[in-house]
Amino acid sequence: MINSIRGRNLLTLNELSDTAILEVLDTAELFVEVNQRTIKKVPALKGRVVASLFFEESTRTRLSFETAAKRLSADVLSLAVASSSVKKGESLRDTIATIDALGIDAVVMRHQSSGAAHQVGGYVPHVRVINAGDGLHQHPTQGLLDVFTVRQVLAERAHAKGSETGKELFTGLRVLIVGDIRHSRVARSDIAAYTALGAEVRVAAPGTLLPASLEEWSVRVVDDFDEALEWADVVGVLRLQRERGTGSFVPSLAEFTETFGLTSERARRLRPHSIIMHPGPMNRGVEIDSAVADSPAAVIERQVSNGVPIRMAALYLTVTGTPEEKTS
Ligand code: CP
Repeated sequence: MINSIRGRNLLTLNELSDTAILEVLDTAELFVEVNQRTIKKVPALKGRVVASLFFEESTRTRLSFETAAKRLSADVLSLAVASSSVKKGESLRDTIATIDALGIDAVVMRHQSSGAAHQVGGYVPHVRVINAGDGLHQHPTQGLLDVFTVRQVLAERAHAKGSETGKELFTGLRVLIVGDIRHSRVARSDIAAYTALGAEVRVAAPGTLLPASLEEWSVRVVDDFDEALEWADVVGVLRLQRERGTGSFVPSLAEFTETFGLTSERARRLRPHSIIMHPGPMNRGVEIDSAVADSPAAVIERQVSNGVPIRMAALYLTVTGTPEEKTS
């Protein structure tokens, strides 16, 4: 396991220890204060160059990474893939080599292929690579901002600051993730983050939307979604990924909503303290009702806001740090 992302690429949460995750959360906590200032800028990455390469659509992740880099005073090279030479058939390797030739310190990349960020790490070993979502594999900064958001809410209830707490807030925390687990890189990163911090994770999905093998995941599949809602402290609702053909994995959207949607009626089963999350973008009326998404129990906008300090922490630690030895 890795105990710090300092000086390393951030490709997956599967190899990060609780210590490494808490270091990112504590660093992000410092950057929350920067984001509350009138002048939201610190010189931590002044003179550094961050390339932002989104080969797949994004609103939240792209904007928050670019905002994060600018608030750290880095220069940002943002490639508009749709109007770039990628459309003329330039390979990923040549695209990265071209951008590297301009002089970069970090690449933030989203790509439709699982493993693409790892591949880029091999092409430019002198540059730090941060995975902003690769195919069905991982979305590490989403997993980090999700546990950061939960820690903030729990710490506020305990009248503490998140960084004044260790992982005890997560010990025994009951997390239910519902929906399209099969195609979700968010689910994979969330499960890694929550379990590393000591939470218990269960998943709810139709059989067709579960991955072929769940053996290596430390999660239990629930038999009864309604009952599981009464158990959960945190409910993470996933987007039905229609762009990945998920529609063909369920008999109809209406039937999916009927059985696994977080409808207003079903949300009445939640306990008063339960936290409702969604990584966005939402299919309102499909996996979550609008009334639930906009209810006080939902922290969906807070998840988006927390994307900036978490991504500032990820950039700062990976770009400026010196790597430590792996412990196991
Ligand atoms: N949660 C998330 O990755 O959203 P975007 O696709 O808008 O970046």
